Amino acid sequence: MSQAIQFLLNNEEISLEKFDPNLTVLQYLREIRYQSGSKEGCASGDCGACTVVIAELSGNSSLNSKSLNYKSVNACISFIGSLHGKQLITIEHLKPANSINNKLHQVQQAFVDNHASQCGFCTPGFVMSSFALLKQKAKQKEQQNSKKNQDVSKQEVAHALAGNLCRCTGYKSIVAAAMEITNCDEIDDFTKNEQQTIAALQTINLTASIKVTTDNNQYFAPKSADELAQLLIEHPQATLVAGGTDLALSVTQQAKSIAQLVYLGNVAELNQLSQSKEQLVIGAAVPYSKFTYLLAKPFPELATMIARIGSMQIRNLGTLGGNVGNASPIGDMPPALIALSASLTLQKGQSKRKIAVEDYFKDYKVTDLAESEFIRNITIPKLNENQQLKVYKISKRLDDDISAVLAALCIELSPQIKNVDGSANNKQQVKSIKIAFGGMAEIPKRALLCEQALQGKVWQQSTIDAAKQVLHQDFQPMSDVRASSEYRMMVAQNLLQKCFIELNNDSLVLNKQQIIATQVVDHA
Ligand SMILES: Cc1cc2nc3c(=O)[nH]c(=O)nc-3n(C[C@H](O)[C@H](O)[C@H](O)COP(=O)(O)OP(=O)(O)OC[C@H]3O[C@@H](n4cnc5c(N)ncnc54)[C@H](O)[C@@H]3O)c2cc1C
Ligand code: FES
Ligand code: FES
Repeated sequence: MSQAIQFLLNNEEISLEKFDPNLTVLQYLREIRYQSGSKEGCASGDCGACTVVIAELSGNSSLNSKSLNYKSVNACISFIGSLHGKQLITIEHLKPANSINNKLHQVQQAFVDNHASQCGFCTPGFVMSSFALLKQKAKQKEQQNSKKNQDVSKQEVAHALAGNLCRCTGYKSIVAAAMEITNCDEIDDFTKNEQQTIAALQTINLTASIKVTTDNNQYFAPKSADELAQLLIEHPQATLVAGGTDLALSVTQQAKSIAQLVYLGNVAELNQLSQSKEQLVIGAAVPYSKFTYLLAKPFPELATMIARIGSMQIRNLGTLGGNVGNASPIGDMPPALIALSASLTLQKGQSKRKIAVEDYFKDYKVTDLAESEFIRNITIPKLNENQQLKVYKISKRLDDDISAVLAALCIELSPQIKNVDGSANNKQQVKSIKIAFGGMAEIPKRALLCEQALQGKVWQQSTIDAAKQVLHQDFQPMSDVRASSEYRMMVAQNLLQKCFIELNNDSLVLNKQQIIATQVVDHA
């Protein structure tokens, strides 16, 4: 058992013993290290001014790792404990250490050359997000054993920068700067020093569990599910944290102090992914950016929707276990998981149980999770060849926005018989249907009466019209800052109509989704 966390602040080896687990990485940088290059705008993960880059050992056996993965994260909502075993890179570290003539890093220079900064408040964040993109492209180049620089598309740049806001420069020159970065052949200090960084990270004890106690708080980072289970039996009031993208806001926005924090990022079983012909099993603590690629083929629409969850920084931290565990009625994944008949494996002590995701949510922020219990993984059955999944996220902005309504429909129609001229010879029927909505009730919920109005019926406009009316009996949505009750109902009805239109023209829509999913899926 270790009583400290260890990480690299660029190349400096840091060991922290008695730290407050509520301390964020941004507070550590600005208030303890006096490194104020990373800015604080919102302290809630929304503006990207605090963006830093984390380099972590790649591969399952990170002790033998030969390379590093670089990812952008929001320092304002990352708890300090999550840095253990990683390298933290901030804007202060980009300029080469022995730079002649005050030479900048190529990403910084691209921002200068393209006039991509005015007041400069957002600039460190944009530069760090662009730097992470540069490193990911370099890694792709390495994996493909290519000498050629990897082209970066406008869509990739938009995707990488969607979590950064600028109020004065205008995005055109910022995007131009980011587009330019992969044209440069220069090898930066991070690549030159990569083997030294790996060696330094490997000296950190990654096999020991961590327990840090101060007068007011305790921090735990167990290594196995059984250890986590025992810890939660001994400390039933302890709070679990995975990515912290929901939980950290209770500290930064509501000024709460968490007395006992248990970090899930090092628990082996919760960080595993597996798939078979029948199903996918996603560890509760795997971040979106590490599992979305698995969904791209079986569920292209879902993968496309995940690319709209928060921003790149959020998806690099946030997890499926956290999305379900947070039990928000507007969390994006639960409706899709319900429509797909997904289930959770829960563990308490030595006993495990399975529960359907739809049975997990009981009331507003009330779930079936017992004291000392935790979500171990999420099992998603794959579709049979006749089933289709449609997922629609409705929010005010395309990126980095919470849903007003999210609809997920898993539908199987009877086969269509075609005449020789290609026209339909029969009317299709609804063989099976599961519809779940977010944003329509106090929990993510199935539209059971609407489903009944469709089940076994002929797939035609009059059936859809009747099912749309029944939605009024399934839901009485609330009005809030995101949407009025009337708007939510109208959107839900229109999404049913959209599904009808799309399935009747499925080849077009599915091809388009498939393309989007493969282009925007985050790098594993
Ligand atoms: C700027 C921003 C944008 C966002 N955009 C979206 C969005 O578009 N769509 C969306 O759905 N969400 C969004 N979120 C919310 C959040 O990112 C997601 O809900 C994310 O999946 C949470 O995962 P996490 O690992 O960060 O959870 P954490 O914050 O670590 O945990 C959330 C809750 O779940 C509990 N928990 C975590 N893991 C487990 C477990 N294994 N077992 C039991 N309980 C557990 C924690 O105790 C906590 O109560 C956004 C958040 C921010 C800050
Ligand atoms: S300060 Fe705005 S995202 Fe961190
Ligand atoms: S340069 Fe002023 S906010 Fe972007």
